[in-house]
Amino acid sequence: MAKYGVKILATGSFLPEKVLTNKDLERMVDTTDEWITTRTGIKERRITDENTATSDLAIGASKVVLQQTGTSPEEIDLIIVATITPDMLFPSTACFVQKGLGAKNAVCFDVLAACSGFIYALACAKNFIESGVYKNALVIGAETLTKITDWQDRSTCVLFGDGAGAVLLTRTDEDKSSILSVYLGADGNQDDLLKLPGGGSRKPFSKDVLDKRLQYISMNGRQLFKSAVIKMIEASEKALEMCGRKPEDLALLIPHQANLRIIDALRERISLPKEKVFVNLDKYGNMSSATTIIGLDEAIREGRVKSGDLVELVAFGGGLTWAATVIRI
Ligand code: UT7
Repeated sequence: MAKYGVKILATGSFLPEKVLTNKDLERMVDTTDEWITTRTGIKERRITDENTATSDLAIGASKVVLQQTGTSPEEIDLIIVATITPDMLFPSTACFVQKGLGAKNAVCFDVLAACSGFIYALACAKNFIESGVYKNALVIGAETLTKITDWQDRSTCVLFGDGAGAVLLTRTDEDKSSILSVYLGADGNQDDLLKLPGGGSRKPFSKDVLDKRLQYISMNGRQLFKSAVIKMIEASEKALEMCGRKPEDLALLIPHQANLRIIDALRERISLPKEKVFVNLDKYGNMSSATTIIGLDEAIREGRVKSGDLVELVAFGGGLTWAATVIRI
């Protein structure tokens, strides 16, 4: 049983300045702006330089959140970073964020659930706060996917971008909770559809790994597409059911931004009008764990949602994993 509720205090995001357009990609691989736009909806994405790591983006987003709320870094008890592009395999990226912020009282760890990672991380923080273990948690989705992108593979290099988003959560009374439900799922039997094969303990870095380009994202797009539609529909329906709400109760649905055609299929199935479904993949592409939290932050900043509104985040990614959460702004 929950002892406490969880309040969302603020959100923030941080994106690298450099923009890579579809036109730029036309000069790099055999593709066209027309193919990318019609098959995915993406027009451009942000890209980090060689000196910027995932924790740099995560720290940028966290600082925005701390400034907005006047929170000092020492007040944070818990930092969770959702990422598939950590600065290094260890220490955790959350530890680098702690160092960068001076959040010396925080417990720190990373969560790896690919594009569902932010919602998985939110679920962890929710449980720690509800049970009374920690009071103030910083939950971050941060990625530098362009560092694990194969720039010779046109079927994947047009899809991904870099960015980070963060949310500050605090303890509140149980009946005032901002997080109404969280639904998580996974299917390890479909591990082959989206993965980074090289550089882990299965295939440590070697000449062979580099020769076969196994240090980059490998993806079966067509199969993933089908599972993404099915699982995003399932997750969004389950999270609504868990808190006794219906799609029409939502002010906004913020889906993972992998492909506009997936988002449209989801929107049609749960019968939401276009204006109630958030889309920003035209600007950023797929930022994996960072996508839904950046979407939430932008929706709040753009005035698409206001205090008291119900919003649902829903995501799907490698693992396979899927997740959804219904929150009250
Ligand atoms: O974030 C985690 C979840 N990720 C997803 O859910 C991704 C889901 N999958 C997708 O979004 C889509 O499958 C893609 C956008 C990745 C691909 O779109 P598609 O409509 O499934 O294309 P396809 O892979 O079936 O390829 C169709 C054709 C192929 O040519 P042929 O064999 O028909 O001659 C590809 O070689 O398009 C070709 N193609 C391209 N052509 C121009 C693939 N990539 C490109 C490209 N430019 N960049």
